[in-house]
Amino acid sequence: MSNAKNFDANSTINKIEGPIFIGRTWAEYLKMFDLKRKDLVKGRILDCAAGASSFTAEMSKNGYDVMALDLLYNKDPDVLCDKYRKHMKVLIEGLASVDSFVWNFFSDIEDLKEKRNDAFREFIEDYKKNSKNHYIKADLNNLPFPDNNFSMVLCSHLLFIYDHRLDYKFHLNTIKEMIRVASNEVRIYPLVKNRGLKSDFVQCIINDLQDVDIKIMKVNYEFRKGGNEMMIIKI
Ligand SMILES: C[S@@+](CC[C@H](N)C(=O)[O-])C[C@H]1O[C@@H](n2cnc3c(N)ncnc32)[C@H](O)[C@@H]1O
Repeated sequence: MSNAKNFDANSTINKIEGPIFIGRTWAEYLKMFDLKRKDLVKGRILDCAAGASSFTAEMSKNGYDVMALDLLYNKDPDVLCDKYRKHMKVLIEGLASVDSFVWNFFSDIEDLKEKRNDAFREFIEDYKKNSKNHYIKADLNNLPFPDNNFSMVLCSHLLFIYDHRLDYKFHLNTIKEMIRVASNEVRIYPLVKNRGLKSDFVQCIINDLQDVDIKIMKVNYEFRKGGNEMMIIKI
């Protein structure tokens, strides 16, 4: 039985086979990663597992040097549109009876849908126009860039939240890869999985990567309950 008390966000996610293709707005990225102008002007930025987020499109419009990477960026825009619509439908149905979320940034489900659709429209327009310059198909486990290629590397809503699907080896390899291609910082958000529980992998990563400086920082954004922290790795 599914009600507000026993809802498990990941049971909804499990209805989708393969990667979940949705995306967040530029405004959410700024809050999730606590990005300030001084962070953004330092150099190139890579958004890993960027999905249908409008971050790269908006940042590029504003003159920043940003690139997005995702497993699905070899697909035609029509295929991505179709995936986005299907995945949004499943996620919205799952949210209908949920108290695992904080309705603050979004006033209600309609507002959430509108913002996700805005992000998708911005993304797909840019994907059609600037596919070669802004969007690269690759696996996070093996980034096709030389060492220290980006000032900042971001990853939102792939690591830690899906620790029931993606094992620790994937997390460790991926984070090592992100560190390798970053010259300054790696930021990862969120750190919680379902029901507001922090993923055990967070502490494992801190224990296993002692040659870099890893901090957990509070951010002014929380949609998933307990999802108000990011990991910041200084290189
Ligand atoms: C839930 S979306 C997050 C999108 C965006 N980062 C955001 O927060 O709005 C997760 C994305 O990760 C991508 N993905 C999953 N596994 C991947 C991998 N091994 N390498 C690169 N991208 C991957 C999926 O294709 C999907 O677009």
